[in-house]
Amino acid sequence: VAPEVDLVAEINRLRKEKNAVILAHYYVDGAIQDLADYIGDSLGLSQQAAATPADMIVFCGVHFMGETAKILSPEKKVVIPDLNAGCSLADSAPADKFAAFKAQYPDHLVLSYINCSAEIKALSDIIVTSSNAVKIVEQLPKDQKIIFAPDANLGRYVAKKTGRDMVLWDGACIVHVDISEAKLKALREKYPNALLVAHPECKDNILLQADFVGSTTAILKFVAETPHDEFIVATEAGILHKMKQAAAGTGKKIIPAPATENNTCACSECPYMKMNTVEKLYNALLYEQPEITVPEDIRLKAYESVNRMLEMSK
Ligand code: 13P
Ligand code: SF4
Repeated sequence: VAPEVDLVAEINRLRKEKNAVILAHYYVDGAIQDLADYIGDSLGLSQQAAATPADMIVFCGVHFMGETAKILSPEKKVVIPDLNAGCSLADSAPADKFAAFKAQYPDHLVLSYINCSAEIKALSDIIVTSSNAVKIVEQLPKDQKIIFAPDANLGRYVAKKTGRDMVLWDGACIVHVDISEAKLKALREKYPNALLVAHPECKDNILLQADFVGSTTAILKFVAETPHDEFIVATEAGILHKMKQAAAGTGKKIIPAPATENNTCACSECPYMKMNTVEKLYNALLYEQPEITVPEDIRLKAYESVNRMLEMSK
């Protein structure tokens, strides 16, 4: 892009001209969140993708999010700023291995976290997100046998919350499992009154200490609505952008939970979410690519499990 191009002005012109909607997850860069028509958690973003009257969806998030939008709105063009923006959870469950795993439990219902590929969605009965997983499991008969994939940490959390025994696929989010328990302990000693809020993709050792566990939207709501001075936030650092905006003028102190030395950022950053840039967003809008496509036979099966989630979330 030539340096004289005003990216924000061009994005605003192109989205009008092309009747495009820009959807963004809370983990992408703040500059992109500020440009988005809608920012949300995975459930909210799916609901928007299903309902938007736009002709084109530009999804600033990761690949499985663009795929979910295409599964729900096949007649729309769906583009994402960077095709390489994947997800460790989606990568942890290759379709052939998962099909073989599922075949071992023929009388089990397959619940999959939305952080998975279209192929895994097609092999699943119901999709869940971090904001509706407990609610959906509670709607199932008590004796229903369940496979939960691909996030074992979220699965363990949901199993504990609902008292259900579930067969777990052993996947994990590289960002949330990388929160350092030792550094968090030191931080909590420094801020003994701080409330700890955490995403359920974190490991048990973090979740057991948390004062509140929820999806990104739920965490933002909790921090905004709880009359308290200090919060330690155990999830991806992109969430701090909106959280700090909402807390402006309240005197609330918001502290990111520390990551281990593995993370390039002192807090937790998702390398995939950070592949989204304003320049790539502009190019995606301009050239209408990289485009997300899903083979129709897979899409139709995946639609069943995603739509079941939307129905059970009402
Ligand atoms: P939610 O925003 O639905 O809580 O998901 C978090 C996440 O890790 C997305 O990749
Ligand atoms: Fe996947 Fe974790 Fe990144 Fe979310 S934060 S996209 S779950 S790797």
